Order: sequence, then C-alpha cells, then structure tokens
Amino acid sequence: MRSLAALSLTLLFLGAAVVMADGVGKGIGLYGGEWSPDPMSEYWDPKSFHTPRTDLMEGVYRGEECVDCHEGITPGIVTGWRASRHAAADQPVSCPACHGADHQKLILPTPETCAGCHEKQHGEFMEEKRFGFPSHALAMERAVDAKHFVDKPKAETASCLHCHSVATKCDSCHTRHLFSAAEARRPEACVSCHSGPPHPDDETYYASAHGKLYLAEGDKWDWSKPLAKGNYPAPTCAYCHMYGKHQVADKAIWKFGLREVNPNTSENKVKRAKWRAVCRDCHDDKTAEEAFSTLDKERKRAWGKLYAMEDLLEDLRSEKVITPAPGQRPAYPTDFFDSIWPMIRIGFLEGQASAFYNVSLIERLYFEMWYFDNLGAYKGAAHGADEFVNLQHQKMESSMKGIRAEAARLRHSGKREPGDLWLKGEYTDFNRENN
Ligand code: HEC
Ligand code: HEC
Ligand code: HEC
Ligand code: HEC
Ligand code: HEC
Ligand code: HEC
Ligand code: HEC
Ligand code: HEC
Repeated sequence: MRSLAALSLTLLFLGAAVVMADGVGKGIGLYGGEWSPDPMSEYWDPKSFHTPRTDLMEGVYRGEECVDCHEGITPGIVTGWRASRHAAADQPVSCPACHGADHQKLILPTPETCAGCHEKQHGEFMEEKRFGFPSHALAMERAVDAKHFVDKPKAETASCLHCHSVATKCDSCHTRHLFSAAEARRPEACVSCHSGPPHPDDETYYASAHGKLYLAEGDKWDWSKPLAKGNYPAPTCAYCHMYGKHQVADKAIWKFGLREVNPNTSENKVKRAKWRAVCRDCHDDKTAEEAFSTLDKERKRAWGKLYAMEDLLEDLRSEKVITPAPGQRPAYPTDFFDSIWPMIRIGFLEGQASAFYNVSLIERLYFEMWYFDNLGAYKGAAHGADEFVNLQHQKMESSMKGIRAEAARLRHSGKREPGDLWLKGEYTDFNRENN
C-alpha cells in the first residue's frame, strides 16, 4: 500500500516536471509551462506576475507626496482614498502602506499586504481552504489547473482570471480605493462574478422574496451596520453566506451543484444547523427546515434525470456507438497522468474536462444538461426562486428529449462518434502551439 502511494507520488512529481519542462510560457500551476500570462495577469495575480515599472521617476516618497502628485495623475484613485476609512483613521493608512514608498520598487498589494493590519479577516478568508473546492481562497489555482484553461484559445480564458482573482487580491467585494465594508454587504458586490448560466446567483436571488425586498427597499437600508441579527429586514448574499465569519465556505453542502451529495451525513448536519441559525434571525425553525427539505427534494429529482441520461450514454458506449469511448481517447495534450492512467470521463465522477470540447453531439448535450440546466435549477431551489426551478426542470426535460433523439439517430445510422475529433479538434492540438 505504502509503496503504491510512493509510486504515485513519484509519478506526480515526474508528471509535473514533464509538463513544466517542455512548455513555452511562464504561467503558474500544473500546466504553467504551457501558457504565457497576459499583460493583465500582473493585476489579477500580482504575487505571481507583477514586476515593478522602472520607466517611471525615481525617488522615495511620503504619503502626502504620493497623494499630491497622484491627485493630478490619477484623480479617481485619490478621491476614492480620501473618502475611505483608511484616510480617516487616526494614523492615516496612506499610499505607501499598501504600495511601498520607493517608486522604482512599487508593489501591487496581495492579501498578505492587507493581512499586516487585518489578520482576522485574512485568516478567516484563508481558512476556506479547509473546506475544499470551490472557495474564494482556492479560486486562482482552481482556474489555472483546469485542463480546459490551457487548451482553450487565449482570448477565451483571459476572463477566467478576472473572476478567479478573488483569491489573489482583496479588492473584489470592497473595491479600491474606497475599501468600504458597506459596499461589500450589498448584492452588487457579488454579482459581477456570480452570474451567467452555470452560476445564476444574481437572477435567482433577485427573483426570490428576499431579492424582491432588496430591490424595492434596499436603498433605504443602513448599510453601515454589520451583518447581524436585527440590522437588515431581508438577507443579501453576504448576509447569508458570510454571516459571522469573513468567508463563504464553512456552510456549503451542495456547493457548486456538480454532483449528488448526501445532506444527512453528520458533517452536513452540522453545516445545516449553521444555515438554519442564519434563517432564524427572521423565520421560525420550521420554515427554514422546510425550505431545506424542498431544496434536497429538488436535488434528488434533478439527479434522477441526470443518472437516467448517464445510463443511456453508458449503453451507447458498450454498443460502441460512442467510440473511441472517453477512456480510450488520447489524453489531453497536457495531461501526462491520463496518458498512463486513462479514465472514462463523462459527468462529474468521470472528470469534467472531456465533457467540454471536441466531443460528440450527444456528449455535449449531456454536458449542457448537467452544467447549465441542472446548476440553474439548483440555484433556483437554493435561493427560493420557484419559477426559475420550473423553467430549469423544463429545460432538463427538453435536453433529455434531445439526448434520446440523438441516441436513436446514432443507433439507426450506425455512425461512430466522435471519431478523431477528440485529438484533432480545435481545442487541443491547435492551442498548444498558440497559447
Ligand atoms: C489599503 C491599501 C491601498 C492603499 C492605501 C492604496 N492603494 Fe492603490 N491599490 C491597492 C490595490 C489592492 C490595488 C489593486 C492591485 C491589483 O490590481 O492587483 C491598487 C492599485 C493601484 C494602482 C493601479 C490601479 C489601476 O487601476 O491602474 C495605482 C496607480 C494606485 N493603486 C495608486 C495608489 C495611490 C496613489 C494611493 C494613495 C492615494 C493608493 N494607491 C493607496 C491598494 C491600496
Ligand atoms: C511626482 C509624481 C509622482 C509621485 C510623487 C508618485 N507617483 Fe506614483 N505614479 C506616477 C506616474 C506618472 C505613474 C504612471 C501613471 C500611468 O502610467 O498612467 C505612477 C504610477 C503609480 C502606480 C502604478 C504602478 C503600476 O505598476 O501600474 C502606483 C501603484 C503608484 N504610482 C503609487 C505611488 C505611491 C505609493 C507613491 C508614493 C510613495 C507615488 N506613487 C508617488 C507619479 C507619481
Ligand atoms: C497599515 C495598516 C493597514 C493596511 C496595510 C490595510 N488596512 Fe484596511 N484598515 C486599516 C485601518 C486602521 C482601518 C480603519 C479601522 C477603523 O476605522 O476602525 C481599516 C479599515 C478597512 C476596512 C473597513 C472599511 C469600512 O467601511 O468599515 C476595509 C474593508 C479594509 N480596511 C480593507 C483593507 C484591504 C483590502 C487592505 C489591503 C489591500 C487593507 N485594508 C490594508 C488599516 C490597514
Ligand atoms: C471577483 C469575482 C468574485 C466576487 C466579487 C465574488 N465571488 Fe464568490 N466566487 C468566485 C469564484 C471564482 C468562485 C469559485 C472558486 C473556485 O473555483 O474554487 C466563488 C465561489 C463562491 C462560493 C462557493 C463556496 C463553496 O464552498 O461552495 C460562494 C458561496 C461565494 N463565492 C459567495 C460570494 C459572495 C456572497 C460574494 C459577495 C459578497 C462573492 N462570492 C463575491 C468569484 C467571486
Ligand atoms: C463571471 C465570472 C467567472 C468567469 C469568467 C469564470 N468563472 Fe469559474 N467560477 C465562477 C464562480 C462564481 C464559480 C463558483 C460557482 C458556485 O460555487 O456556485 C466558479 C467555479 C469554477 C470552478 C470550480 C467548479 C468546478 O467546475 O469544479 C472551476 C474549475 C472554474 N470555475 C474554472 C473556470 C475557468 C477555467 C474559466 C475560464 C474558461 C472560468 N472559470 C471563468 C466564476 C467565473
Ligand atoms: C467575497 C467578498 C469579500 C472578499 C473577497 C473580501 N471581503 Fe472583506 N468584507 C466583506 C464583507 C461582506 C464585509 C462586511 C462584513 C460584515 O459586516 O460582517 C467585509 C469587511 C471587511 C473588513 C472590515 C471589518 C469587518 O469585518 O467588518 C475588513 C478589514 C476586510 N473586509 C478585509 C478584507 C481582506 C484583508 C480581504 C482579503 C483577504 C477581504 N476583506 C476580502 C467581503 C469580502
Ligand atoms: C437566504 C439566504 C441566501 C441568500 C440571500 C443568498 N444565498 Fe446563496 N445559497 C443559499 C443556500 C441555502 C445555498 C445552498 C447551500 C448548500 O446546501 O450548500 C446557497 C448556495 C449558493 C452557492 C453555491 C455554494 C454553496 O454555498 O453551496 C453560491 C455560489 C451562492 N449561493 C451565491 C449567492 C449569491 C452571489 C447571492 C446573492 C446574489 C446569494 N447566494 C444569496 C442561501 C442564500
Ligand atoms: C434578515 C431577515 C431574513 C433572513 C435572515 C432570512 N429571511 Fe427569508 N424572508 C424574509 C422576509 C422579510 C421574507 C418575506 C416575507 C413575506 O413575503 O411576507 C422572507 C421570505 C422567505 C421565503 C418565502 C416564503 C415566505 O415565508 O413568505 C422563504 C422560503 C424564505 N424566506 C426562506 C429563508 C431561508 C431558508 C433563510 C435562511 C437560509 C432565510 N429565509 C433567511 C427575511 C429573512
């Protein structure tokens, strides 16, 4: 057993070394050797990519001097800073506290820079790592270690780092240079990232009873108050997800919604109790309990539909209609492990990457049902947007119809898909040379 572990560890290092060695770029993560960072990367992830500009003037400055000169150069920054708690503090936290004083060696602040003065918030944020994926603290490595990150065209992946930079700098929810807690308490602080088909948190929240109250009356609420009992008439994203702690991961059970979980394990029961305590600020426990049992029932139903389609795909594989089957396909160009230890990869347990691109139509239909219809239904149920749940389940039904029709077509036509698309498709070989 132990030698097996040692072997896989050796292979792990070997794999990483092989991948790193033959690449072109100076990226980061498992496939860092295969891609080069964009110019914007130095802002998304300053710790990995920022290099100080030496084309600017020389000199070491005091805070007032930075402010005076930047008032003319970047007035927006100075206006924001002047209105901030940092400027108003007894000992003002001025430009050098976050950027350094030597203009030839300026830094762009990382979470560690803020940690110098905000150890508690930074500590709670980093603690998210304990709860695994997804989490803000792990978001950057999660994105760059995704196989499709390196295999997709560069123009499509720049956006990933924008949202996933929530891990590598602290100005995502309270933006620079105001750094306002009041701003972060509002739903607008979250929805620039928490939107779109795989995570429609914005639409589902705004359609819920809570979101409707926020839209109708939010401008009259006092946002300077902390997120605690009695301070708000209806909850916002941060109220529910960051209640009592400066992090979002400690209560998550269904997480992203990518797989079925058992909400009744002892660990999940503890998390549910924490969720219900949040609801009890404004509801009785029975309302909360019922809301969660509705969520669990919706999830069970959605997974019933997904499993039925997975079974159908399994059958097509054993009939050799889907061929080469995922487990027989060449690995992603970057994936050394898959080349020595191939896995069947459709659906969560079989890995996501293969379900994204260069697959047969029927596999892609399944992917869309799983990743868009299902994830949307989940968020509708989690956030109490009932009509949204109906709509997403209708979409699942129509995806199932499409999948069944495509299965019949494949069986009838005797076609074998996806053929060599997996190897030759534009998301594999092509990009390896162009990223
Ligand atoms: C509390 C910390 C903090 C203070 C104080 C601070 N900054 Fe920043 N500043 C940041 C953060 C965070 C960023 C964003 C870094 C990134 O994008 O990776 C930033 C970015 C910048 C940028 C690049 C921004 C852009 O949009 O192009 C400039 C220029 C800048 N700050 C100037 C200043 C000046 C001048 C002051 C003083 C008036 C100041 N900063 C005070 C935290 C701070
Ligand atoms: C005499 C004028 C002057 C002073 C004093 C000055 N800056 Fe700048 N700073 C500039 C100019 C010019 C730029 C480049 C702006 C641009 O590219 O549009 C700049 C750029 C920056 C940037 C952006 C760096 C990047 O990599 O994007 C930061 C951060 C910054 N200054 C912070 C400071 C801090 C902190 C101080 C005080 C220690 C300071 N500045 C003092 C003129 C000044
Ligand atoms: C040199 C110490 C120092 C550094 C570095 C620093 N801060 Fe602060 N921060 C303060 C002080 C002092 C306050 C005001 C506390 C108060 O008024 O009670 C504050 C307040 C805040 C607040 C609360 C504002 C409000 O509306 O209540 C936020 C948010 C914040 N900082 C974020 C950051 C972030 C993000 C960074 C890193 C980019 C950072 N700070 C870096 C000292 C610092
Ligand atoms: C700059 C983009 C960005 C902003 C702003 C942002 N998030 Fe996120 N959030 C992400 C990303 C990216 C992930 C997924 C990270 C990963 O891949 O592990 C995530 C994950 C989460 C999760 C999942 C945690 C889990 O354990 O399942 C929750 C909950 C969450 N965010 C809530 C919020 C809330 C509440 C706000 C606003 C107060 C917010 N986020 C603001 C980008 C953002
Ligand atoms: C609009 C913002 C946004 C963009 C752009 C974005 N993501 Fe995400 N991503 C998120 C959020 C938010 C979550 C977590 C949602 C949740 O927990 O419900 C997430 C979750 C993830 C996850 C973890 C869930 C999983 O599938 O295991 C991965 C991996 C991921 N994103 C990779 C990427 C890659 C690669 C790209 C670029 C092709 C990308 N993301 C683009 C916001 C974004
Ligand atoms: C997902 C959004 C989000 C991110 C990312 C985030 N914050 Fe916050 N932050 C908030 C919210 C919401 C509040 C208000 C909390 C409350 O009222 O209980 C807050 C409040 C604060 C405060 C004021 C003290 C307090 O707890 O009220 C500080 C200081 C702070 N954050 C620092 C940081 C630092 C440092 C980082 C990076 C490690 C960071 N924040 C990243 C959402 C965020
Ligand atoms: C009334 C409380 C409440 C509000 C308000 C709320 N959520 Fe949620 N959210 C939940 C619950 C409950 C779940 C499902 C939790 C579980 O079982 O994992 C969830 C799930 C999520 C998830 C998946 C990760 C997780 O924690 O399971 C993300 C991401 C998320 N919400 C983001 C948001 C965003 C962004 C907003 C605001 C636009 C928001 N939520 C508003 C209660 C809330
Ligand atoms: C800060 C107060 C607050 C918190 C916290 C809160 N809610 Fe609500 N909730 C409300 C208000 C106000 C309404 C609207 C009631 C109405 O329509 O008369 C509401 C409505 C609802 C509804 C619609 C059905 C109904 O009772 O009218 C559900 C379901 C619900 N909440 C579930 C939850 C769950 C689950 C949680 C915890 C994850 C939660 N709420 C947390 C204030 C809150």
